[in-house]
Amino acid sequence: MRVFSGIQPSGDLHVGNYLGAIKQWVAAQTSDAFYCIVDLHALTNPVEPEILRERTREIAAWIVAAGIDPDVSTLFVQSHVPYHAQLAWLLECVASYGELTRMTQFKEKSALQDGVRAGLLTYPVLMAADILLYDTADVPVGDDQRQHLELARNLAERFNNRYGETFQVPRAVTPASAARVMDLQDPTRKMSKSVASELGTVYLDDRADAIARKISKAVTDTDGAMVYDWDRKPGLANLLDMFAAFEGSDPRTVAARYQRYGDLKRELSELMVESLTPIAARYRALRENDALDDVLARGAAKASVVASATYARAAQAIGLTRGR
Ligand code: TYM
Repeated sequence: MRVFSGIQPSGDLHVGNYLGAIKQWVAAQTSDAFYCIVDLHALTNPVEPEILRERTREIAAWIVAAGIDPDVSTLFVQSHVPYHAQLAWLLECVASYGELTRMTQFKEKSALQDGVRAGLLTYPVLMAADILLYDTADVPVGDDQRQHLELARNLAERFNNRYGETFQVPRAVTPASAARVMDLQDPTRKMSKSVASELGTVYLDDRADAIARKISKAVTDTDGAMVYDWDRKPGLANLLDMFAAFEGSDPRTVAARYQRYGDLKRELSELMVESLTPIAARYRALRENDALDDVLARGAAKASVVASATYARAAQAIGLTRGR
């Protein structure tokens, strides 16, 4: 079954990206899986060219360090495969302005910025192109991407109805726990690459003592009852969810094992350190040699074979003539 997912090189990776996405990518890894570093998406916000280039390489190294084997799955950079931007244009002419302005992430992000880039509005269409180019069935993502996936499904169906059966209609696959990891200092806000919240964010690159400090200072509540309840106790629910996701169990089972928040926090930081330290060590080793550029070139070549065929099908269906 074809799997596709992507991640933006827009900041340092955190435990939300790992639990919400990358850990699932590793679990879904087969020769039919395509994982993409979506550098074109990162251009929707201001970023220095050198920083974008550096982050693209960093993210590639993290993905491999976390367990994606580029000899099994296809790992590549979005801009290396020009069909993404090309298909996005065709789909922009299928999407409506109204549905794009109604997207939650656009409303939230555009409200915080001056000089909002047009790309921020059309971003979900580029994301739909990413997915549809690969005849994708499953898209492993965190919960925040659900609305974007709905749009991708709608655009696929609308295109198919208008121009004939062209695209596979994909579905989002989110993890049972930790599909939305919240900021440790403000559990009503999502942990995010682009929002600076040093104490609220556990980065994959954090050392053991930083992880322990951040978890021990995580905001909970004062009633002290070990109950998994997102509405009344979001800080605690967030910790229980992360615990369950790292351990591969259920947040209620974790809650039943502990009486005191302090004990839960201590064991959660131990579990995190145990899970993340080997990944960070592999990351540092990968950054020391530059074999990744070759890996990404091979990935782009493999991705292009699939993407070019789908793009040609869509271009034909919509009425473009073929150049010589
Ligand atoms: P991005 O780069 O913001 O995030 C990458 C992945 O991490 C997940 N994620 C989280 N999961 C749980 N808790 C969190 N706090 C958290 N923060 C982030 C995201 O859900 C995502 O799975 N638009 C996408 C990138 C993209 C893409 C695609 C994804 C572009 N094209 C095609 C899938 C398929 C994004 O900005 O993700």
